[in-house]
Amino acid sequence: MDKYAVFGNPIAHSKSPLIHQAFAKQLGEQIEYERILAPLDGFVDSVKSFFDQDGRGANVTLPFKEQAFAMVDVLSERARLAGAVNTLALQEDGTLFGDNTDGIGLVTDLQRLHGNIVGKSVLLIGAGGAAKGAALPLLEAGICHLHVVNRTVEKAQLLVSNIHQYKNITSGALSCETEQRWDIVINSTSSSVTNSLPGIDISYIRDCEFAYDMFYSETATSFMKWVQETNKNARVADGLGMLVAQAAHAFNIWRGQMPDCAPIIAALKEGQLT
Ligand code: ATR
Repeated sequence: MDKYAVFGNPIAHSKSPLIHQAFAKQLGEQIEYERILAPLDGFVDSVKSFFDQDGRGANVTLPFKEQAFAMVDVLSERARLAGAVNTLALQEDGTLFGDNTDGIGLVTDLQRLHGNIVGKSVLLIGAGGAAKGAALPLLEAGICHLHVVNRTVEKAQLLVSNIHQYKNITSGALSCETEQRWDIVINSTSSSVTNSLPGIDISYIRDCEFAYDMFYSETATSFMKWVQETNKNARVADGLGMLVAQAAHAFNIWRGQMPDCAPIIAALKEGQLT
């Protein structure tokens, strides 16, 4: 049976084994998929030993995505721009390929929830690792304009200047008022982890049609609640679907088959994946 794993520290909470086993079942396949708690100072050795023992592919989560980026032989362009790797795949020639499926996972989930995003204007709040992974896949999906705002505005400027191939990406501050209307607003900051708000001016969300929080929890996140109170017409969603979709893209990289995310997301929400 082909062997996969997710590396992290901590890792006991990871839903990845459940999700990947559900994909395999959906596609009539059998795989092994385990959680591996890598020591904080021993990630690279842990990964090497997994691939030496016939591992085929792996996911990488906190706090090792940058170390995974540094250790691979070959990088995808989106992983290069993200500066982080969440998917490792052993190639035919024995080299290790590193990709980042977080951003394409976000795009897949936006398409599931909101339909075609071609031509949409998108506001991306935050310029950390999650935002860096999302920017290129959003632009590649054909949105008309991506505006990145961040508490530390220099980080938003740097993110934008690293994407040379697109001209329709701009940066700005969080708190200034805007006349511009954004179709889709995405919160990539960690504000919801502490039940707080990212601090954007209300004018950014007054007329948006859809707001997405990359964070997810059992109940609506603080960002989702704030958007709904401010803009009754906006639809909101959390990042559970993105979690499933980034896994689906990893599965596709390893096995050449793209799982259907919707039933797996529904099963996770209903607590049916055990
Ligand atoms: P991740 O990998 O989850 O993106 P990160 O790289 O540490 O994590 O980035 C965290 C992001 O959340 C940053 O954009 C950060 O803003 P700064 O660059 O100014 O630090 C943003 N962030 C965290 N807490 C925030 C808060 N309370 N309000 C606004 N932005 C916040």
